[in-house]
Amino acid sequence: MATFAWNETYSVHVSQFDAQHKKLFEIINSLADAMRVGKGEDVIRDVVGKLAVYTRTHFLQEEVAMQKTGYPGLDAHHEQHSKLMADVEKYKADLDEGRKPNTIGVLNFLQKWLVEHIQKSDKAYSDHLNAHGVR
Ligand SMILES: [Fe+2]
Ligand SMILES: [Fe+2]
Repeated sequence: MATFAWNETYSVHVSQFDAQHKKLFEIINSLADAMRVGKGEDVIRDVVGKLAVYTRTHFLQEEVAMQKTGYPGLDAHHEQHSKLMADVEKYKADLDEGRKPNTIGVLNFLQKWLVEHIQKSDKAYSDHLNAHGVR
């Protein structure tokens, strides 16, 4: 499994959001760690539940910062956040209803989504937020 860890190349140059992204990496990594020792199915429900709660707060805080500073990409960014929340809620509902999870599929999806979203969409707000004093 490829290394999946936060590093400086993921920085969005806003300290609270970097800290929150690190936490998201940590939550997703806890699933990878469990899978490595054959415990993926034991923890996935807990991990997805945690991720749903933490992600919601993080997305909201990003959107509040964008709104306060009049970020022009807010609507498109909000759409991406909503889509991910819907996907996470769907995984959560499946797990709550006792359906057997495809843990590898969930892990790959979450890792890919987080990396791509930070690299493409979150980084796009850095200059704008920094220029408005959000660092
Ligand atoms: Fe983010
Ligand atoms: Fe975002």
